[in-house]
Amino acid sequence: MQGASRGIGLEFARQLASRDDVDLVLASCRNPATAEVLAALGASPKVRVMRLDVEDESSLRDAAALAADHTPHLNLLVNAAGMLHTPDGIGPERRLDGLQPGSLARSFAINATGPALVVKHFRTLLQKADRPVVANISARVGSIGDNRLGGWYGYRASKAAQNQLTRCMAIELGRGPRPVAVIALHPGTVDTDLSRPFQGGVPPDKLFSTERAVRQLLGIIDGVTREQSGRFFAWDGSEIPW
Ligand SMILES: NC(=O)c1ccc[n+]([C@@H]2O[C@H](COP(=O)([O-])OP(=O)(O)OC[C@H]3O[C@@H](n4cnc5c(N)ncnc54)[C@H](OP(=O)(O)O)[C@@H]3O)[C@@H](O)[C@H]2O)c1
Repeated sequence: MQGASRGIGLEFARQLASRDDVDLVLASCRNPATAEVLAALGASPKVRVMRLDVEDESSLRDAAALAADHTPHLNLLVNAAGMLHTPDGIGPERRLDGLQPGSLARSFAINATGPALVVKHFRTLLQKADRPVVANISARVGSIGDNRLGGWYGYRASKAAQNQLTRCMAIELGRGPRPVAVIALHPGTVDTDLSRPFQGGVPPDKLFSTERAVRQLLGIIDGVTREQSGRFFAWDGSEIPW
């Protein structure tokens, strides 16, 4: 479980840790010292909290080595870390005039490059499991085919890049005797820090709690088949065009 300090990632760690069919949850975040709720969850003997910053590849290498000390294989990797806005002023661009190279680069680093590098470093542990799954938490707005409104250039483009990376790794990791299923998932609009400034026009029944969103996504992950690998699914199981 990657990106477990807050929001959807934290709830994934919580729900997975509560399941009888899960022995161990490796819950990572970039700064465990400030992730107080995750630290409390880490008191469970089933949960190990690890440092992992998707913008720092050496931390990915270290986290994968630490994970291998704790478990012989990994059944599920959830890539949840993501960024739409930051406290230092990065936010969704409405127009071309708002594009800034640094902001775009940061969006790609966190939303696309980082999750792919996580899979690069954890693939060996995944390939030791019987039916391993990688779930990359994407967003419907990353779909090019579904883009009718424009705007949110950096977030949309970095999620589209994440989707292409998902498809590539699904093809590569689907080969050979130890295939790994890789899917992209749209959680719906979920009540977290990421969506909070943009919840205004969202009908109450379309704004999911993290509990509901993760329950829905785990339903998809639990039933994923090899044929579904390399595809993009929404919270209700419907397929989203790339
Ligand atoms: N909420 C929604 O409505 C919605 C809709 C569609 C898709 N999504 C996707 O769902 C995923 C989770 O989003 P959320 O709503 O749970 O957002 P959130 O509450 O803002 O949480 C974002 C998470 O990403 C982590 N993160 C950011 N930069 C990181 C880095 N460099 N290395 C490691 N972790 C980093 C944050 O860690 P820190 O605590 O250290 O900052 C935090 O755990 C994202 O990929 C997002 O794009 C969300």
